[in-house]
Amino acid sequence: MRTIELKGKDVVLIDQTRLPRELRLIKCKNAEEVARAIERMQVRGAPALAAAAAMALAVTALRSRARTKSQLLQELKRAANRVKRTRLTAVNLFVGLKRTLDAAQAAPSTERARSAVVREARRIAEEDIRVNKKIGENGARLLKSGDVVLTHCNAGALATIDYGTALGVIRAAWRKGKHISVIATETRPLLQGARLTAWELKREGIPVTVITDSMVGDCFRKRMIDSVLVGADRIAANGDTANKIGTYSIAVLAREHRVPFYVVAPTSTIDFSMRSGKEIPIEQRSAEEVAFIGRTRIVPKGVKVLNPAFDVTPARLITAIVTENGIVNPGELKSLSGR
Ligand code: MRU
Repeated sequence: MRTIELKGKDVVLIDQTRLPRELRLIKCKNAEEVARAIERMQVRGAPALAAAAAMALAVTALRSRARTKSQLLQELKRAANRVKRTRLTAVNLFVGLKRTLDAAQAAPSTERARSAVVREARRIAEEDIRVNKKIGENGARLLKSGDVVLTHCNAGALATIDYGTALGVIRAAWRKGKHISVIATETRPLLQGARLTAWELKREGIPVTVITDSMVGDCFRKRMIDSVLVGADRIAANGDTANKIGTYSIAVLAREHRVPFYVVAPTSTIDFSMRSGKEIPIEQRSAEEVAFIGRTRIVPKGVKVLNPAFDVTPARLITAIVTENGIVNPGELKSLSGR
């Protein structure tokens, strides 16, 4: 099953806010509906956001009545500007928009531009699966039978089109017959680990144990963790990596306990325009996500709440970055562009 797909003139996606209670699909007819689905976290995870953004433009093109290429381009740019305002940390979303807009711009006519946008959106989705499988192949050799892997948030099939990045490595090792088990942090406040990672791994039959975020240190101290695999939302040129809030604390603990800490991501997540993690914009989300559990308020009214969606792990705490083009030291990212 795919996390997000272009079907006819609609974008069809798994509503991730409903998991694990129910597996429900929703349809988005235009870029506004896709943008809202992104804002509500019905679709999330950096590579899935690249596809969602590209498909938002594809449905815009498919439903557009523009008669000229410049009218079509105007509509596409308006749609792209709306999607750009949804989430700002994952570079993949911007890459997805740029690739589809560039494809439209390069086309010689209105009709060709329309089909170029759709083709590019589909290509982004197909590429994602291919790249994830390659990442899985490359990363699987880092794991051996019996290993317990800690992962944070959800860097699985649900965060991509299919297969996943960090969970893709675990999947690849598992499918090779290695007995891997996973510790998944619940990932406050939106519980991507407890809800989504645990759901995915259970479906595949991979043993998984969910812990609260505050149990991580204790698990390291008790030597329960052999390696850490996490995804990424944006990797700066020097290897500093933005990922779900809490990743940095895990990296510090991994270093203290001499456990390897791997970032697993497609090369499209590397933003060479940013020299270091200091330049990566961090999305701040609403206080309600922290102050409420479901409909129950857990923080007294009037008390301040912080809710950054991501943090930045400095390159020096990262053992290696696993990509489709190989496994590299975070200080040697430049070497990937030539491969
Ligand atoms: O806020 P989210 O759920 O979109 O955050 C997702 C993550 O932090 C993932 O680890 C990251 O996007 C990589 S997904 C392959």
